[in-house]
Amino acid sequence: MNSSHQFATRAVHAGETICGVTGALDTPIYQSTTFAFESADEMAAIFGEEKFGYMYTRYGNPTIRALESKMASLEGGEAALATASGMAAISSAILGYVRAGDHVVAARSLYGAAYDFLNRKLPRYGASAAFVPSARVEDFEKCIRPNTRLIYFETPSNPVLEIIDMQGLAEVARARGIPLMMDNTFASPALQQPLASGVTVVVHSATKYLCGHGDAMGGIIVGPKPYIADLSREIVRDFGGVISPFNAWLILRGIHTLHLRMAAQCASASRIAEFLNAHPRVERVNYPGLPGHPGHGLARKQMKAFGAMISFEVRGGYEAGKKVMDRVKIFARAASLGDTRSLIVHSASTSHRAVPREQRIAVGVSDGLVRLSIGVEAVEDLIDDLDQALAS
Ligand SMILES: Cc1ncc(COP(=O)(O)O)c(C=O)c1O
Repeated sequence: MNSSHQFATRAVHAGETICGVTGALDTPIYQSTTFAFESADEMAAIFGEEKFGYMYTRYGNPTIRALESKMASLEGGEAALATASGMAAISSAILGYVRAGDHVVAARSLYGAAYDFLNRKLPRYGASAAFVPSARVEDFEKCIRPNTRLIYFETPSNPVLEIIDMQGLAEVARARGIPLMMDNTFASPALQQPLASGVTVVVHSATKYLCGHGDAMGGIIVGPKPYIADLSREIVRDFGGVISPFNAWLILRGIHTLHLRMAAQCASASRIAEFLNAHPRVERVNYPGLPGHPGHGLARKQMKAFGAMISFEVRGGYEAGKKVMDRVKIFARAASLGDTRSLIVHSASTSHRAVPREQRIAVGVSDGLVRLSIGVEAVEDLIDDLDQALAS
């Protein structure tokens, strides 16, 4: 398998080989914590990294390795590292660059725990972060200081679907010699490959679209080989946030259908966004596929499709948003995203309840904001479900 093969072919084949011993076509789950050696000399050579070999699953495992190789191929990166969760990927990837005294420039609209890690955890280690007051590249540039060691962002962002110019930001980062890190969870590599636009490192919650079925936690970091090797040794291995072989296998299997699920989910999301946009009980719809979305032009340029995440503001505020949640029958009231099932969450009463109201509203999370993750059910049924939930 090489990079000239198309995405769909690599989604199925990259990183996986037929077992030379048994002929097993599917990658086996190497559910073993440890690996044995032929001799003391062989063991010493592998521990001394003079020879490649598996020794202990926290240091590496063939099933996990297959997932890492597949993701390096799909993101077009030199190397990848799998972790126990998306947050393990984000925290490890940031700690791989940032030391005491360093500064991070970060987007204002981020997944809540990533925001919290940058805002409250980094200061414990003597580092700090500044959040850019807009999605504009020039405002990112204005926040850079002499000690800025990293720029961090998401596009589309969680939960307000803000779009940031990957290439424009990469040019600024490159000119200043600062690594640029992006969370590609919302789009997945089926819709955009940030490394090709000049982003240095991509992180993922593999729990979402990559797995796709809501049954395994995982994270992925893709980037330059020396950085990934150092991260593997110094952070993930020693802090211990490794993925289990079984979860790696579930995610590996999920990725086989990533392009098919994404195509179906994006098509349904476009129709649902249009339906919501025309609904009298809906104040505003955040979906980059709508021509009125401020990032529509950029999304058209840098994404293959507009994604399957939508957020919208129900007229009537906080209680109206919660009522829609209570009335849906097919959408599950659940926090995650990217699953085959459609999910709904009222941000102000759940994911953002700890964020002060003014701060929450400043980043677009208004009282009535409801976020949808569109699954693979029949789109007509999903529209009917929202219609009856918004009625009355
Ligand atoms: C955009 C984004 N990044 C990262 C994460 C964290 O992933 P995990 O829950 O796998 O740690 C999430 C979780 O919802 C997310 O939405």
